[in-house]
Amino acid sequence: MEPHPEKRIPVSEPFLSGNEEKYVLECLRTGWISSLGKFIPQLEEGFAKFSGSGYGVAVMNGTVALQLALAALGIKEGDEVIIPDLTFVATANAVRYLGAKPVFVDSEPETWNIDPEKIAAAITRKTKAIMPVHLYGHPCDMEPIMRIAAEHNLFVIEDAAEAHGAEYKGRRVGSISNVGCFSFYGNKIITTGEGGMCVTNDEQLAERMRFLRDHAMSPGKRYWHPEIGYNFRMTNVQAAIGVAQLEQVEKFIALKRKNAQLYGSLLKDVRGLTLQPQMPWAKSVYWMHSVLVNEGQFGFSRDELMAKLKGKGVDSRPFFYPVHQLPPYKPGCSDRDFPVAVRLSGSGINLPSSVKLSETDIKFVCNAIREISNEKIS
Ligand SMILES: Cc1ncc(COP(=O)(O)O)c(C=O)c1O
Repeated sequence: MEPHPEKRIPVSEPFLSGNEEKYVLECLRTGWISSLGKFIPQLEEGFAKFSGSGYGVAVMNGTVALQLALAALGIKEGDEVIIPDLTFVATANAVRYLGAKPVFVDSEPETWNIDPEKIAAAITRKTKAIMPVHLYGHPCDMEPIMRIAAEHNLFVIEDAAEAHGAEYKGRRVGSISNVGCFSFYGNKIITTGEGGMCVTNDEQLAERMRFLRDHAMSPGKRYWHPEIGYNFRMTNVQAAIGVAQLEQVEKFIALKRKNAQLYGSLLKDVRGLTLQPQMPWAKSVYWMHSVLVNEGQFGFSRDELMAKLKGKGVDSRPFFYPVHQLPPYKPGCSDRDFPVAVRLSGSGINLPSSVKLSETDIKFVCNAIREISNEKIS
């Protein structure tokens, strides 16, 4: 195989190719570097519109977006919130920060997202909300989730940290439930370095989130705090980067989809690899280009494949551990209750997924995988 012109292909890097520098310099030159300034409402309005929602509330990161949404909906100690077992730990931690208990549900084998059919069995008298996660950019099957929530009078908060612009039956994720929460971390589809946003169509809820975000300061009375709030504010500098990124988001999503097609066509006949399928009702944004490795058929385990890719200059990441396996959440949980999440977690890898990837990069990664699979055959 020809060596790649660059040394290493990372899993993800930000693409800061637009007005980011110009807008950040504007903040520095005008002194608007804190959490007041024009870029914050611009990002809130622009991102809410992009995601099909009426209101946006910008915050410091995606984790506090989840915490703020839960707090604004009144989730508190003793409550239970249903989340998928296979997710980034932030989904569970946000629930715990409020003293509530995350209750895990296994994944669907097809979409890798929370299995709607297993949600009802997890509902108790304490359940207050369901927090589905649109994993790796593929939307959850929201209709059955919204139906169960309505039947049991539960809130739904979409953890859309990884799925900016993904569509479920023509609607963008984040806008389908009570609140959608996004992350703008450096590896996300658009980034502000660290950052996040809550979107909602409920004006009162948006107001409540703004209030809690700013130390619960009374809107009409400065330094009067009728309850305990948070400082979850985003800075104007972060928002400046975000506005520049938002100007390019449709282009980024189109590139992600083009890259997914190329990965799909180059890897489809490699034995023992399965790409994340796209359901007929879904339009994924492919935050990550992910594959499952069937060791028996591929010839190497997931971890062996990752190590061999690394040797060829290709970075990859394993899937998240199922949250029930992590020490703070393990007591009382058993792998037997989450067979799909355990299987996905043990066999999945995320391949290089930057918007920046060139066709040459993707061909290089796929050739590397083919070479590794042939090592076993020959
Ligand atoms: C599913 C999910 N939820 C929440 C978060 C938290 O976002 P942040 O890293 O911006 O706090 C992430 C981020 O990485 C995520 O992948």
